[in-house]
Order: sequence, then C-alpha cells, then structure tokens
Amino acid sequence: MVNLTIDDKQVTAPKNSTIYDAARINGIKIPILCHDKKLKPFGACRMCLVEVEQMRGRQVPACTTPITEGMIIRTSTPDIIKARKMVLELLLLNHPIDCPVCDKGGDCDLQNLTYEYKVNANRFSDEKFHHAIDYSNPLIERDMNRCVLCGKCARICDEIVSFGALTFISRGIETKIGCEFEGSLNCEFCGSCVSVCPVGSLLARPFKFKARFWALTNQKSVCGYCGTGCNLTLGVKDNKVLTTVYDENQGFHNGQLCCRGRFGYQFINSDKRLTTPLVRKNGTLTEASWDEALELVAARLKGAGSSAAALATPRLTNEELVLFKRLMETAGSANYDHSAGYAHAALTEGFAKSFGAAASPATILDIQKSDLLLVIKTDSYETHPVIGFEINMAVKNKGVKLNILSDKRGKLSKLPDAQTLVHTPGSEVAVINALAKTILDDKLAAGTAAAIPGYADLEKALAGFTPEAVAGQSGLSSDAIKRLARDYAAAEKALILFPIGNAYPGHNADLASAVANLALLTGKLGTEGSGVLCMAEKNNSQGAVDMGFYATRGLNAGQIMDGCASGAVKTLFVAGENPVVSYPNRAAISAALDKVEFLVVSDLFMTETAAMADVVLPACSFAEKEGTFTSVDRRVQHIKPAIGKIGQSRTDFEIFGQLIAKLGGQAPATPATVFGEIAASTPGYAGMSYASLGETGAFAQVAVTAAFVVPRTVAVEPAAGKLALVTGSALYHNGTQSQFGEGPMYVCPEGYVELSRTDAARLKIQENDLLNVASAIGSTKLKARITPRMPEGVLFSPYHFGAAGVNQVWGGAPVTWVTVTK
Ligand code: SF4
Ligand code: SF4
Ligand code: SF4
Ligand code: FES
Repeated sequence: MVNLTIDDKQVTAPKNSTIYDAARINGIKIPILCHDKKLKPFGACRMCLVEVEQMRGRQVPACTTPITEGMIIRTSTPDIIKARKMVLELLLLNHPIDCPVCDKGGDCDLQNLTYEYKVNANRFSDEKFHHAIDYSNPLIERDMNRCVLCGKCARICDEIVSFGALTFISRGIETKIGCEFEGSLNCEFCGSCVSVCPVGSLLARPFKFKARFWALTNQKSVCGYCGTGCNLTLGVKDNKVLTTVYDENQGFHNGQLCCRGRFGYQFINSDKRLTTPLVRKNGTLTEASWDEALELVAARLKGAGSSAAALATPRLTNEELVLFKRLMETAGSANYDHSAGYAHAALTEGFAKSFGAAASPATILDIQKSDLLLVIKTDSYETHPVIGFEINMAVKNKGVKLNILSDKRGKLSKLPDAQTLVHTPGSEVAVINALAKTILDDKLAAGTAAAIPGYADLEKALAGFTPEAVAGQSGLSSDAIKRLARDYAAAEKALILFPIGNAYPGHNADLASAVANLALLTGKLGTEGSGVLCMAEKNNSQGAVDMGFYATRGLNAGQIMDGCASGAVKTLFVAGENPVVSYPNRAAISAALDKVEFLVVSDLFMTETAAMADVVLPACSFAEKEGTFTSVDRRVQHIKPAIGKIGQSRTDFEIFGQLIAKLGGQAPATPATVFGEIAASTPGYAGMSYASLGETGAFAQVAVTAAFVVPRTVAVEPAAGKLALVTGSALYHNGTQSQFGEGPMYVCPEGYVELSRTDAARLKIQENDLLNVASAIGSTKLKARITPRMPEGVLFSPYHFGAAGVNQVWGGAPVTWVTVTK
C-alpha cells in the first residue's frame, strides 16, 4: 500500500493506483468525463485536474497520474475549480444547449457538471457544430454535435467489444467520432458505446422520447436470453419496460450487455403477447376463462400416468421447473425434458460421468485469469456475446493466448495472435482425442493422471487417434494438432470453453467427455484460470439441469416426440418451448404434435407450436415474476417483478401450482418456499435463500469426482456433390424468443445461409440470392450470405426463425448434407 495525503486527509491506496482511484476508494470525489474504470486511462478531457505539491503545485489529470509514496494532493483549490470551469466553458462552446429535447437530459455528465460548477455564462463564443445526425438504423442515433470527444465509445468498441466501428476522424476543431469512410453505423449493435457516452451523442432510439430518466422506476434483474446471466436494470414506466438502464457497477460485466440484452426487451410489452386463455372449440382457438382452461388441462392430466409428457423451456425459473416436475409426478408421469433432449447431454451425461457433477468446474471469471483459452467453435461469441467480451479483454488486455478449434472462422479468430484450426465439420471429438493422444505420447500428462479411474481404458482407446490418423479425417495437419496439444499442456492455467444448445447436436456427451479428458490428463482443473466451461444456451439451462428437469426415469424430448407420433403420449404440456421451430426435423415434429390427442401450451406468444394446441395459457415474462435463474457457471440469481402481469397472464409458477391443486396435490404458496426446498435438496445450493442471494447472487458449488470416459466418435462420410450444412446461433438471437425483440429482428430479421466465396463463385451465387437448400428430409429457401469465414464445402445457418426455418432440412445430425440451387 502507498501512503499519501488527499485534501489534508492521510490515506492509503494500493500500489499502481492512479490519483483518481486512490481518491475514489477513500471516498473523495474527483469529477471525470472521459475516464471509465473498464477502459484504459485516456486523459483527454482535463476535468479531473488536481494539484500535486511535489510537482510544485502543477495541475495534473488524476485519472492518468500514478500515486507515489508521500504524495500530497489537493482536489478542489480555487485554481482547480477555475480550471474545471474553463474545461466546461470550452466544451460548451460548440455544444448545442438542447437539453430540453435531449434524451440524455437528467442523466448527462456534462449537464450535471455544468450545474455543479455553476457555469451559467461562457466567456468564449464560437459557432455551433452542424454535423448531420445519423438516423440510419432504428437502434442507435449518433448526434456528433453533442459529442465532447471523450473517446469512450471508440475505446469500448475497440477494447471490450473488439468491433472497432468507431474512431476519431479529422483533426483540430474538425475532429469528430465517425465510422469507416464517414459511413453509417453498421455493427453488432451491442449498445456498449451508448451506455458509456457521457452526453446525448449516442442514444438508444427505441427509448427516445419515451420518458425522462428520472421518471423511470428501476428494477434490477437478470437478462432472460442466454446463460451468461448478465445483470440488467429494467427502466419501467406505466407498467412498461421502456429501456435497460446502464449501471456500470452491475455484474461481473460492469453493466455491459449484448444486442439482445440491450435492445431485445421489447418482447415484454409486445402487443403480440397472449393475454387470455384460449380453448380450441370447433377447430378454432377461442377465448376462455382460466377456470375453464385449467379444468380441461387438469382433467387430461389426472391419472394420465405415462401417457402424459411435458417439455419446458429452460427460460422458466428454477422454482417453476420444480413445480412443473411436481405437476407431472402428481399426474403419474416421469416424462419431462427440455431443449430437444440432447441439448444438455454434455452436462447431464458428459460432465456427470467425467466430473461426477452435471455442471462446469470453472466460472466466467476464470477467463481473464487464465494463460490460455481453448475455444471449441467460434460460435461461442455468437451464443454468449458478453462471455465473448471477457475473451476479448483477456486476449487484448491480459495477453491470454487464444486457440480455437472450429468448423469455421469467426470474430474471435480476428483477435491478436488467435490461432484458429478449422477442421471438417463433425470431426471435433476425434481432434480432441488426438490432442489427448499427443499429450500422452509426449509425456505431458500430469503425474496425478494415471491414478484417475479409467486411465488405462482411455490410453488404450486413444491408440488409434494419432495426429497422423486424425489429420486425414479432420482436414488438419498432424503438426497443427500436435502444436495445439503442446500449447495446451504447456500453459500453466488453461480453460476450455464450448457452447451447447438446440442447434449444436455435436456438442454432446462425447464432446464433453473428450474435453474433460484433456483437463484431467493435464491437471488443469480446480485452480483459478483453469477448467472447462460448458456454455449452455438459455438463461436457465443450468438451472433446468440442477432442478433435474430432464429424463432420468421417463422419456426424453426426442422420445416424447416419438411417443406423440406413435400415440403412446396422449397429452403433451409444452411450457415456453417452440419445438416446431427449435427442434430438428420440422415436418416430423409438426406431424407428431398434430397426432397427439391433447396439446396444452403455456407461452407469451402464439408461437407455431401454440397455434397447434387445444389449450393455450398466457404466461408471464421474466419481468413479471419472482424466482431464480442459474447461469452457465452456476451463479444463482434472484429476480423480482419489474412490472405487473400483462392482461390475464399468469406466471408458470401459478399455472403449475393451480393445476397441482386441481389434481389433489399440495402446491407451495410462494417461489420463496420452493427455493427453500431447492436449497435443502439440491447439491451446491445448500444454505441459499433469497435474502442470502442479494443483488449479486451466489455460486452453487461443484464437487468434482474425476473419471476418464472414452468418448464415442462418429465418422462423418462426405456425400458426393453435396455441401456440409452446420447449424448454430446468430449473434443477435437466442432460441426463438428473440424473434419478438425489435432490436434483434432489426439487425437479423430472417434466416440465412452462409457460404464461402469459392462455393459462391462455383455455383454462381450472389449475396442475398434466394437459395433452395434441400436435404434428405426436405427443403427451404434461405438468403445467401457470402463470407470469408466459411471454408469451402461448408454452409452455416442459424436456427431461430419460424419462417423458412433451417429445421426443414436439418434432422438433428451434427452435419447435414445438402444441395443448393438458385
Ligand atoms: S453498438 Fe457496440 S459494436 Fe456498435 S459501435 Fe457501439 S460499441 Fe461498437
Ligand atoms: S460520442 Fe459520446 S462517448 Fe463518443 S466521444 Fe462523443 S461524447 Fe464521448
Ligand atoms: S443475451 Fe446473454 S450475453 Fe447478452 S446480455 Fe443477455 S445474458 Fe448477457
Ligand atoms: S477524466 Fe481525467 S482527463 Fe478526462
């Protein structure tokens, strides 16, 4: 610690602190404008000037000046106040004083500082700027007339988002922030730049003229999209969620969100929300009372036994999932599952066998503490963008080495010194086995490895996975495989990351076991910065696994669908899932749902699946309910209602509870009661309560019991004259819910198929051509996107879309062979 004096107060601060940091941690306020704790010091605005006695009273910027032992600092002498006033006068010289119509009014650093320093007259005068305002997209408005050139937007876009859409352009008085070639903004639309802009230069357009900041009621919550579990603050007025309010102190991510979290909340107040129960009468879904609808469902479930089945979205709270399971058990059925059945097998089968726990032995916080990241599939950025930010920062700020094993390149491949090994689709398990084989052959395994159960079997099974043998089928060179293995083994701390979800059938139990073997072989487990992080798709995917909402004694999702088709399953209750769009093989799923005698769907919207139902129950969004979500790294977080329920909608907690009561069971009164039961019965959740979770949540503990498991590999045989289609997630979407978010739909309104330049040239395909993509099970029409990231012979298509969905050609295999015609 360093001793120093600030404003006559003896204080201490950690070595390497700046004056600003030292003052802040000792409760002394120094004004800032261009500084942001997440970004590298910049020192542009001079608002934070202070006097340092040892520098003969010179004024220095507090945000960039490091402290030294014995430093004597004054933060608010008359000269300092005068200097700060002048900084503000100069900033206001060209700045329009349009606070009455500026959406930032009341939340603007420049306005607040002008008020605090009483700058009510300006000694200088100059012409105001006349920059054209960029209204080119519906999400972010750019008005450079209000810009104070703090550079925070350009820096966050570069340092954290790694997109680099914004930069300083021109010089002197002409200096401004602009996009490449002074064009319009066309980027990831994560809104990070908007969140840090201290003035009204960058505004969230969906919120424009909706409300003044001070008129909003803020409710802290957790993002309802992916499993990263980002914290967010919902800004509410008149029972509407109008915006997400930036709070730089919220969450491990300091308030940063991706496009879905920032601009995807419109679905909460969408006028497409279901507001009344519907019952099918004479073939038409007709408005009904809750009593009528629930009576019908209860009558079907009562004593139904194994002829009833349930599918839930892992967007439900832990408490709702526990109750849904209880409802099915009260009906006498053990047939319940979520997310296409296989989507969580990496956890429930893979990790459960390899680590003795269906959870990741690593956290998101390990990313920046690691020495090497091995990312399986570049889609990790698309599936979990804020985890992508962590990877960006680890690589750029901490020099963490990034190796990627993927079937295509991606944004992560562009990070400094990132090594991307592009393998043929479907060969990832074989390649990972070859990495393990190299580690064994090179004697790089940890001394502890041989004592782990299953070592001898693994050693034997890996005999055929020499880098030379795997090179042929994977399209990689044996040298590249060996290099990757040696890199991983040599790193003191190494973390493996891979996404799982509906669109990643190849990321299954075998992939999980294969990567677990690598970590166990090298001992990279159980220490900070090491381990394996399996990134489940939805906001409560890990919770659904922890709550046991998957097939253990009954049918899994695929078998439930088969049961519907065969007539074995007569009643199906679908809560929040949309299998018609998100499960593979749309024709088969639609036929199965058509066949089932009684289909009940609870959802926010009239989805493609709900439209087939006999009873539709209007459910609540995450913003209307209380409960907990568990993130990919088992952070259990408590959410509370931000708004009242929309229309007659009810929470799934209420729906399941009322049905349990109708079936003669005992329904718990509140989510808190159920969470108490969860804490008492779920490994890792012991001792938790809503009160103990507080605003930051708590990590459920993972106790690892290691074992080597031999993963199965499936040879993917090329099909002559066909292209290999792989499915996945689009950056702006998550599941099918984001189809109801205006932001995600603006940036990515429809499905598409990505192909390489070489294939496009060979097939004479132009960008945006409508292509007929056909496989053995069907065909669909998708727009062409020609990108340099795709290898020759490989196509990629995201799965989120109802119209022209890729599940019309994709039957659930990791690789689908297709033909493409115009
Ligand atoms: S929205 Fe995100 S990607 Fe776009 S300019 Fe702002 S920070 Fe960069
Ligand atoms: S647009 Fe906003 S964040 Fe960017 S430099 Fe200008 S004032 Fe700073
Ligand atoms: S979608 Fe995922 S990464 Fe994006 S803000 Fe929400 S939780 Fe964070
Ligand atoms: S805040 Fe220190 S120079 Fe801008």
